[in-house]
Amino acid sequence: MTHADTGVGLHQGDRIEDVVHGDGWPSHEAAACPFPFYEALRSQAPVYRYPGRDEYVVSRWEDIVHVAQHPEIFGQVGVGGRAGPAGMAATDPPEHRLKRMLGLRMVSTARLREYEPMVRSIANELVDAFVDRGECDFSAEFAGLLPISVIFDIFGLPRNDLLAVKTRGDRQEGQGTPYLTAEEQELRARDARESYEYMRAAVLDRFEHPRDDYLSDLIQGQIERDGSFDLEYVVSEANTMLFAGNVTTAHTLASAIVMLCRHPDELAKVVADPSLRRTLFEETLRLESPVQWLARRTRIATELGGVELPAGAKVLVIWASGNRDGSKWEEADRFRVDRRGVARDHLAFGRGNHMCLGAPLARLEGDIAFDVLLSRLKNIRLIEERCDLSSLDSVIFRAPKRVVIAFEQA
Ligand code: HEM
Repeated sequence: MTHADTGVGLHQGDRIEDVVHGDGWPSHEAAACPFPFYEALRSQAPVYRYPGRDEYVVSRWEDIVHVAQHPEIFGQVGVGGRAGPAGMAATDPPEHRLKRMLGLRMVSTARLREYEPMVRSIANELVDAFVDRGECDFSAEFAGLLPISVIFDIFGLPRNDLLAVKTRGDRQEGQGTPYLTAEEQELRARDARESYEYMRAAVLDRFEHPRDDYLSDLIQGQIERDGSFDLEYVVSEANTMLFAGNVTTAHTLASAIVMLCRHPDELAKVVADPSLRRTLFEETLRLESPVQWLARRTRIATELGGVELPAGAKVLVIWASGNRDGSKWEEADRFRVDRRGVARDHLAFGRGNHMCLGAPLARLEGDIAFDVLLSRLKNIRLIEERCDLSSLDSVIFRAPKRVVIAFEQA
């Protein structure tokens, strides 16, 4: 029986070629349960060349860190489905640094301190809406709403627009482009244009009527730096942040609650020691990395893990595989809310000059979310028959499709 028959991905000892042949990388079967596949890659071919292509898959922790720390060799590849100029995540130095400096204004220590009560109040509002029912669709009613509501608040966007923006964002992260039908590709292109137009109108409005929000701050920072307003530039950066900070954090929250329900002993530890909330979030990121991998392109010929790579080769960096690399992590597949060094060493936020700009915000959201949830709900458990814990139909992003929980009020 092959992985395609079972739908659970490659098993240790299976041949890598059985998974990667055909219609692009990785296949849906491999993406559905990718961890045995990563394990096979790490042990059989840590820098694996996709047959017949100039495409290489990097799966060991050390090699991934090397790639991420050498942007002069491994350049960024744009993410598909965007409109407007390339955003920060698709830009190389020296321009990248300039964009990043502007973005950093959003997550300064002072800003983060200001966000805290706002994040707490949104988390409480979301819990208020379902707490009396004794159950909720955690993905739809909490995890999926908290991060986007937070970004809306930071940007100063009206809550009435939230659902439309969220729907477009959710659709964007679906399948990798090679798997989309022509119709789906058209829909995605339309979504990208609409997202761009939406943000363009908001940015123009703030240019004309500055307010106390991050969009106004971003505009002001760009003008101070360059001397004149560059509308397209600001729109593109704002959209990068809106998209990057939304689904990723939502996925982590959903995965974390599943992990806790599956490991009641670990849940009990977090309840007893609130300082473990931070490691709970990081350990979830390590094991269920919402961004499983991203691509780079070699700018010059180079060597990696004993393999010669030509200039212009595509390099798939599997953060999620580095996060389970047994030569880096003790009991790599085990969920431990008190794992030491996890925040420092996991790769779910990437590494190097492109390391997630929003990581401090995501961490703040995770900490407050679980503070609110664990102080207001107790005996949290999955209603298994109403959950769909299989991962999203995406070959890059990972998260359970639907998490329904029951609880009592604490
Ligand atoms: C748990 C949640 C999150 C995860 C797992 C995550 C993951 C990542 C990863 C893996 C990268 C690296 C991209 C690369 O190396 O090419 C990245 C970059 C980025 N993230 Fe996040 N992210 C999260 C939350 C956020 C939030 C809340 C924001 C902001 C609101 C954000 C904004 C960004 C931006 C702007 C970049 C591009 C940075 C650059 O290219 O210099 N992310 N993120």
